[in-house]
Amino acid sequence: MSTSTTPPGAATTKTPGQETGTIRLGDRRRGVDVDMDDDVTRYAPEWLGLREGVDAVARASELLDPLRIRLADLPQPDNGLVIHDLGCGTGSMGRWLAPRLDGPQHWVLHDRDPYLLHFAAVNSPRAAADGSHVTVETQRGDVARLTSDALAGASLVTASALLDVLTGDEIEALAAACAGAGCPALLTLSVVGRVEFTPADPLDAEITDAFNAHQRRGELLGPDSVTTACEAFARHGATVRLHPSAWRLGPDEAALTAEWLRGWVGAAVEERPELASRADAYLRERLAACAAGELSVVVHHSDLLALTGPTGGTA
Ligand SMILES: C[S@@+](CC[C@H](N)C(=O)[O-])C[C@H]1O[C@@H](n2cnc3c(N)ncnc32)[C@H](O)[C@@H]1O
Repeated sequence: MSTSTTPPGAATTKTPGQETGTIRLGDRRRGVDVDMDDDVTRYAPEWLGLREGVDAVARASELLDPLRIRLADLPQPDNGLVIHDLGCGTGSMGRWLAPRLDGPQHWVLHDRDPYLLHFAAVNSPRAAADGSHVTVETQRGDVARLTSDALAGASLVTASALLDVLTGDEIEALAAACAGAGCPALLTLSVVGRVEFTPADPLDAEITDAFNAHQRRGELLGPDSVTTACEAFARHGATVRLHPSAWRLGPDEAALTAEWLRGWVGAAVEERPELASRADAYLRERLAACAAGELSVVVHHSDLLALTGPTGGTA
């Protein structure tokens, strides 16, 4: 799951996609109970809610000043900024960013999951940093098929925890669409494939490798998505800035850490079933340490700001 930090379809070390007991994280399944395309990963709103506070702290506020400067240079639509949030889930990116930007904003919230779009519409941000009005609309569909025409008039494209569940072709199409529409992009919280545990365990590296391989299954980029996106946006004339945006999980985030651990280890085992018995013991010990407040985890991510605009790629 981009987390995307949590793996799609691997909520447990048992059968991937089963309930974890509390939350279904990502479930890659045939679209039998919802009207969605076949074989897509679904994300539980409870999981997205659990991570929202940590995501908010992790996102790189250092990228906001260069973004604000670029937005101020762009021609302003009559009704303020038009911001397209791709793979919005329940809308956490808008709730984070809208109150950090001045002026009226209209957010177009894109997702393929109508259930999540409902939550996003109901819990939309109400006000900008300066108190200006914020409005939202939802658009259901596949963001991988967005064109520059669909983004016509956009001031900004955002995404959070999305890039690593896309393919190289999809990221290329996204960069081309942003360049064609002349709008910058702020793409946050992409996994980069590195996790640090305190205390460390000899199995950490093996599980990390297996998880990263799972993230790269098929044509998905997983931890390679940031590099691919940098190259794609640069090819389209954008100036690209990166900033780390790690989750720093300690005793106060034990509930999130436990769910993340179940998904992370589950994906690793799904990828390399021969790890199962050692991974089960590893997970039990890690969960016990987490419950006792004796585990800290840094899950590394990266945020990307691509300054594409009508004036070209100069920052
Ligand atoms: C890890 S969740 C992140 C949700 C939200 N951005 C957040 O940060 O909480 C990924 C979201 O992207 C959506 N998504 C993934 N691939 C998509 C695609 N090709 N088209 C539309 N939505 C997609 C999923 O339905 C899910 O809501």
